[in-house]
Amino acid sequence: MNTLLRIDSSLRLEDSYSRRMGDYFVNQWIMKHPDGAIIQRDTTIYPTPHLTQQTYDAFLDESLHSEGLLLSDELIDELYRSSEILITCPMYNYGIPSSLKAYFDLVIRTRKTFMYDHGIKGLLSGKKAHIISVTGGIHSAPGGMNPLEIHLTSILNHMGIRNIRYFPLEGTAAPDQLSEKMNVIETSIFKYLN
Ligand SMILES: Cc1cc2nc3c(=O)[nH]c(=O)nc-3n(C[C@H](O)[C@H](O)[C@H](O)COP(=O)(O)O)c2cc1C
Repeated sequence: MNTLLRIDSSLRLEDSYSRRMGDYFVNQWIMKHPDGAIIQRDTTIYPTPHLTQQTYDAFLDESLHSEGLLLSDELIDELYRSSEILITCPMYNYGIPSSLKAYFDLVIRTRKTFMYDHGIKGLLSGKKAHIISVTGGIHSAPGGMNPLEIHLTSILNHMGIRNIRYFPLEGTAAPDQLSEKMNVIETSIFKYLN
């Protein structure tokens, strides 16, 4: 069965462009996969705690007790149960939201999502990822990736995920042309999923 893990990270629960684009993606995805399952993670509504030394020590020695280890296990289990991952990601202060970084700090874990084998070998290969990145200004060079896409690509590649599609919406601070830009993104999501 196809399972889509949707991860939202905008601090705005209303009027968020990344969440709106994510809703559009999921609606189209459900039409393509009527029997598919959706798992939802929201790093704003349910913030992941920051990685601590206690949790990191437990990553290396699982006999050590840590609440963070249990949560990490749960989040990694969700990743393994998913065939596809949708990340909706606004830009905050030139980077991904700290809540989303905290999520990834708990799932990037040796022997679970990557291992060392003549270098880093990701253990989640075969999964697809979709990144909807939203920025107030314009950050990507023509034809190039924006900083959010570059960062998320490194993280996903580290876990072995290389099949990634990008849907960037840049310039939400300037209302003119915004609805046109959103139409372009929605059209490209529609074509991609149909
Ligand atoms: C705390 C904060 C920091 C931001 N920093 C940046 C930034 O560094 N660069 C940028 O282009 N936009 C920045 N923005 C604008 C957001 O990226 C923009 O409003 C985007 O639409 C937010 O996503 P959302 O609509 O899904 O909430 C920032 C917004 C907030 C709230």
